[in-house]
Amino acid sequence: MTRLVVEDLSKQFVTEAETLQVLAGVSFKLDAGENLAIVGASGSGKSTLLYILGTLDTPTSGTVLIDGINPFKLGARGLAEFRNQSIGFVFQDHHLLPQLSVLENVLLPAMAQGRPSADIAQRARHLIDEVGLSARIDHIPGRLSGGERQRVAVARALLHRPKLLLADEPTGNLDAATADHIADLLLELPRREGASLIVVTHSDTLSIRAARCLKLVNHQLAAVA
Ligand SMILES: Nc1ncnc2c1ncn2[C@@H]1O[C@H](COP(=O)(O)OP(=O)(O)O)[C@@H](O)[C@H]1O
Ligand SMILES: [Mg+2]
Repeated sequence: MTRLVVEDLSKQFVTEAETLQVLAGVSFKLDAGENLAIVGASGSGKSTLLYILGTLDTPTSGTVLIDGINPFKLGARGLAEFRNQSIGFVFQDHHLLPQLSVLENVLLPAMAQGRPSADIAQRARHLIDEVGLSARIDHIPGRLSGGERQRVAVARALLHRPKLLLADEPTGNLDAATADHIADLLLELPRREGASLIVVTHSDTLSIRAARCLKLVNHQLAAVA
């Protein structure tokens, strides 16, 4: 089943001094449960592309369809709801809240709607178990290692069973062995639940193990030789 359709996507940043063309005519498709690695030089537009796919930024032109829905056609409220329910994001820097426990951090996406239901709390505990952190569930991020924090970030991104999990250099701050464990989780957990993964990475372990790898070069996605 086709999960994501990206057609002729372009993005320009217009500043007083110049118009910067970052993406021009980016097109690709992704199936449900499929994973894709995107590589490319620093400044080539990888984060820009990922932020647009995550609806955190808007394209200058072109279309994005996620399960047939164009999120940019939804109103502000609809878009916020769509993002919360359908998209999971993992950043290079985990973005956990320092004063909250592991469990509370994982539950954060559900907090916006008030007190989490018993089902959601159960889901959070299950994910914390899946990423191997049951013994740390009450710890605050300051008492975790970098790899453990990133595991929490992965669990949080999966809380609402997103259609699309987007990860922007998720192993960029980790040593090789720890990065390998995070790669295992990213390639395994979403696939099992039918979520599609797009990971921007400099790490060979991640890009080689992904089912597909594309390179962002000259504002477009190209096959990797
Ligand atoms: N909000 C913005 N305004 C202006 N230029 C931006 C903005 N965001 C990114 N850029 C520029 O777009 C280009 C691509 O950036 P980015 O997507 O972060 O690249 P990458 O993630 O591949 O390193 C860079 O030249 C960057 O400076
Ligand atoms: Mg980037």
